[in-house]
This record gives sequence, structure tokens and C-alpha cells, in this order.
Amino acid sequence: MIDRDAVIAVLDAISDPRTGQGIVASGLAKGLTVTSDRAGFVIEVAPGDTALYAPVRDAAEAALKAMPGMTRVSVVLSAEAVPAPARRGASLSPAAVEQGRPKAPVPTDRPAHVRRVLAIASGKGGVGKSTVAVNLACALSARGLSVGILDADVYGPSLPTMLGLSGKPGYEDGAMVPHEAHGLKAMSVGLLTQATDAMVWRGPMASQAITQMLTQTRWGTSEAPLDVLVVDLPPGTGDVQLTLIQKTPLDGVVIVSTPQEVALADARRAHTLFEKVGVPTLGLIENMSGDIFGRGGARAEAERLGVAFLGELPLDASLREGGDAGRPTTLAVPEGVVARCFAAVAARVSEALKL
Ligand SMILES: Nc1ncnc2c1ncn2[C@@H]1O[C@H](COP(=O)(O)OP(=O)(O)O)[C@@H](O)[C@H]1O
Ligand SMILES: [Mg+2]
Repeated sequence: MIDRDAVIAVLDAISDPRTGQGIVASGLAKGLTVTSDRAGFVIEVAPGDTALYAPVRDAAEAALKAMPGMTRVSVVLSAEAVPAPARRGASLSPAAVEQGRPKAPVPTDRPAHVRRVLAIASGKGGVGKSTVAVNLACALSARGLSVGILDADVYGPSLPTMLGLSGKPGYEDGAMVPHEAHGLKAMSVGLLTQATDAMVWRGPMASQAITQMLTQTRWGTSEAPLDVLVVDLPPGTGDVQLTLIQKTPLDGVVIVSTPQEVALADARRAHTLFEKVGVPTLGLIENMSGDIFGRGGARAEAERLGVAFLGELPLDASLREGGDAGRPTTLAVPEGVVARCFAAVAARVSEALKL
């Protein structure tokens, strides 16, 4: 039997690098759940702090796993979306959108030779948005479609790691040439700049860079158009997201959430934002679904919102390992639970996008 106080003592032996206090005492460990043989919690940090706290997550996971009788441990590191920066420019503020102002005009800068643009969004970071984007792109590609993936997550571009990409994109006849990885055409904001400071990507510059990657990249040609471009959007519902959503010609969005109520509330806000600008939510995916964080929350939320529930993705160590190694699990273990889940999601998304 695992004792809750013993779990807290183990966690408080690990210190929060910001405060120096134990991670429970400092309030860093949120939503601690302890059952007879399992434990899990969430570490929620500012977007710039994920690298600082990744070792804390790893240490907590290792320490809990070492407790006798512990069969399963889950520590999720989640980044809050950045509050909207002060900004000039003409785009609507989220508040204005909430008040039901007119819908944004249909963007005119559709990328050439791209049949559909599919966005992957989430209310907050760390919920598995990029994991879903990459694996869903692979599953769509496995259906015989020609697929591109654009990492537009200015707060934490993760495609370079998840697909094993490096180096700037090529440049030919006035257009950027995307990288090729695992049969996908890929571009990432993370490959365009050496700057590690997310600040440079705030506001108009971020949306300009992303519009450029969308429209000035040779995703397809007239002989060989791209069937679908999967866009990994920044998490949250701030101004950067809004500008992007308005400027990007999206045919549909898939929203990723973990089962906890806080994450679901953010997923709901994301859905509302897309709805207001006229982008259809193709459905919700529940990630890190399981008995530690609960399960079924996203399914119930999808029902409440009147959108499709696309499936649940279990907590699966191979997903993190595959991501870190640049080898998507869907391809590495094509008969596994994860690959089957994404194959089903890909089938539904293809149908919804008429691919
Ligand atoms: N179902 C899962 N099981 C285990 N680890 C996961 C799962 N989904 C995501 N992860 C891991 O959690 C971390 C955050 O996921 P990521 O896809 O980068 O989130 P986001 O793009 O929303 O910030 C990554 O290390 C990833 O490998
Ligand atoms: Mg990401």
C-alpha cells in the first residue's frame, strides 16, 4: 500500500529550482493523486521554464518509481499559455471575438498546391499537441496521402526533436524547400532562427514568420499537390494564436486535451475561439488517458460541445521515448495501441476533410 504522506515526503525531498522549497511544499506539484499502488501529479510552469523543470519531473518520476509497491507513476510537465502581449495591429482581441464581432475575412493567402490545412491545437502546453500532430501526420501518410507538417508553436517548437530535423530549410526559385522526414514534408519555426528567446516570436513577427512558412514554402507542385498540411499551433487562446488562426486558411482543427478538468476548460476555450472565427472543430482527442488522471473527461466534454470525440491515447512511455529520439511511435511500432489509435483518428479526419 502506498501511503500519501510517504509520497509527499519523497517529493518534498526534491526542491523547486525557483524557490528552493520541496516541490509539494512550494505548491509546484498540483493535483497529486495517490492510489494503493500508483501516483501522479502535474507540474505547471511558465512556458520559458519547461527546460528548467524537466529534470525536476524526471527526478520526481524516478523517486516515486523507486518506492516499494509502486506500479505506475505519472508526472506531467505542463506549460501555461503566455498572457497576450501588448500589441498594435488590426486583428481582433479575444474579448472582441467573445462579443460576437463579425467573423474574420477568409484569408486569401492559401498555400499553393495544398488541398487541406489541418490545425492541431490545445488549451495549454505539455498536453501532447505535438505528439498528436506528428503521429497523426504519419498515420495520414500511411493512408497513402501526401502530408506536410508545419511546426508553428513559437513558444516551444518541438518538431526538430520529434522528427530528428536540423539545419535551415533549403531555398530554391524564391521558395523555401521543406525538410523530408519519415515521408513527411516538414518545416519548423525552430529551424528558422538561432534565437532561443521566445520573445522574438511574440506578436506580429510570429504571425509573419508563420504566414511566410505557409505560403512561401514549396509544399506541393501542380503535378504533385500536398493532400494535407498539419499545423502544430501554439497552445492557448492568446493574441498570437488569434492572429494566426485568422491569417491561416484552416479547414479544420483537432483539439488535444488531458482528462483533468483544468485542461478541459482550456480545451473548451480553444474550441470557442475556433468556432468564432469559423474553423470547424473536427474533434477532441484525450491524451494521457488512464486511471491516474482519470479518463473519459474529454469524451464527455466533446458531447457537451457537440463535437466528435476522436479517441483516447493512453499514457505510454514509448510515446515520449519515440518523441525524444525523433522516431514517431506510429512508425516505430506500427501494430501497437498507439498506431492503431492514430490510424482510427486519421480515418475520421480524412473523412471529415473529404480527402
Ligand atoms: N500519451 C503519452 N504518454 C507518454 N508521454 C507523452 C504522451 N503524450 C505526450 N507525452 C510526452 O509529454 C511531453 C509533452 O508532449 P508534447 O507533445 O510535446 O506536448 P505539447 O506539444 O502539447 O507541448 C513530451 O515529452 C511527450 O513525449
Ligand atoms: Mg509542442
